[in-house]
Amino acid sequence: MTDTVHRAIHAARRARLAAQLGAGGIALVPTAPERSRNRDSDFPYRHDSYFHYLTGFTEPNAWLVLAGDGRSTLFCQPKDLERETWDGYRLGPAAAPEALGVDEAFSTAELDQRLPRLLEDREAVWYPFATHAALETKVDGWLGKVRARVRAGAIAPGQQRDLCGPLDEMRLVKDAHEQQLLRTAGRISAQAHVRAMQTSARLLREGVDAREYHLEAELLHEFRRHGAQFPAYTSIVAAGANACVLHYRADNAPLRAGELVLIDAGAEYDSYAGDITRTFPADGRFTGPQRALYDLVLASQYAAVEATRPGARFNDPHDATVAVLAQGLLDLGLLDADKAGTAQDVIEQRTYFPFYMHRTSHWLGMDVHDVGSYVEPGEADRFTERRDPLSGETIKSRPSRILRAGMVLTIEPGLYVRPAENVPEKFWNIGIRIEDDALVTEDGNELLTRGVPVEAAEIEALMRG
Ligand code: GLY
Ligand code: MN
Ligand code: MN
Repeated sequence: MTDTVHRAIHAARRARLAAQLGAGGIALVPTAPERSRNRDSDFPYRHDSYFHYLTGFTEPNAWLVLAGDGRSTLFCQPKDLERETWDGYRLGPAAAPEALGVDEAFSTAELDQRLPRLLEDREAVWYPFATHAALETKVDGWLGKVRARVRAGAIAPGQQRDLCGPLDEMRLVKDAHEQQLLRTAGRISAQAHVRAMQTSARLLREGVDAREYHLEAELLHEFRRHGAQFPAYTSIVAAGANACVLHYRADNAPLRAGELVLIDAGAEYDSYAGDITRTFPADGRFTGPQRALYDLVLASQYAAVEATRPGARFNDPHDATVAVLAQGLLDLGLLDADKAGTAQDVIEQRTYFPFYMHRTSHWLGMDVHDVGSYVEPGEADRFTERRDPLSGETIKSRPSRILRAGMVLTIEPGLYVRPAENVPEKFWNIGIRIEDDALVTEDGNELLTRGVPVEAAEIEALMRG
């Protein structure tokens, strides 16, 4: 993709956003701060997603100011040969308009001096609420400076508005450029899972002391080898019973024949995330009970994939998953039909919850748990209230989002079986999740992450190879 095309994509997004600010509106969008890890070492720098969505710019210490008439002003780090010798190249304000397509650019050092003037005579100032520490305080300071000039005829903005509203709606429906990046992130992530599965089988065949971190190393190698800049989130590599800990991280537990390994890992490629989970036998051969649970989770995922199409609701894939899991838990004896009743009872009483305690989907995009309302706009006042049978709390349900082509969501059912008196022992400590990324298309969905097999027999075949 050429720089010209990139510039045009970001300029078009700024124009769409500006049109929603109102003629008297002005928006402030800072990028992310650099964060110290310890002493003078920083965490790897990651720009802010909103800022990058509107500029394509990856340097720290930068701000976009966008006026309702479409005029864009960038504040960025000034050229500084000494700093650039230590920290690397800076674009600088002189080159920024040509490189990024903004109308004008200044040094970030001029922000406090120029911002009050830019805010003067505007009706509303927009910025992302509750996303940047102390941003509200900064805005207050600039507004204070505008107010100090009211006797000189300046008018201070009378409204502060949350920029997340319009930006989240834009980011929720991915354009063609974003879809392509998500395909690439999905493909690289899938290749990394293939590599980890094959490595696990090989290490066990060789009889070496294989650990979770060995597989994490394979994931990172494969991400980076294909140009992904970061893992999209901290990789989970969970051997055996660790799979039942939802936020486990790759640690040093041994990979053992006869046990499963759950890997939840995805690459971030040019700011877009992949998010895949696969669960496989460490040595490449499912045991009977593992296979029974695996096939149940997979059947529930197929049902959810089937329910993912334009016009359906965001909650439909989750409901489809739960219906399959509820029946399966009864069929396999994890729930006792004499006590739990029918599948419908299991759903209504939420007795499946000890085995499946998370939702099936989330939006995916620049952020792994991406922005976007889960409630259909315009239907927020149509809620029902019910008593949750487990907690006793009153829960408000609103109609969930209607899926549209261009939305991207994960589909990630699972089952997690802790040792418990009424649960057959053969299932104890098995944790399974299967997660793929789905782009809603005009007539259904496209799975972006099926470059890694998902059928049990195909996983076994891959791991034999
Ligand atoms: N990897 C985070 C998630 O699956 O939601
Ligand atoms: Mn996920
Ligand atoms: Mn995941």
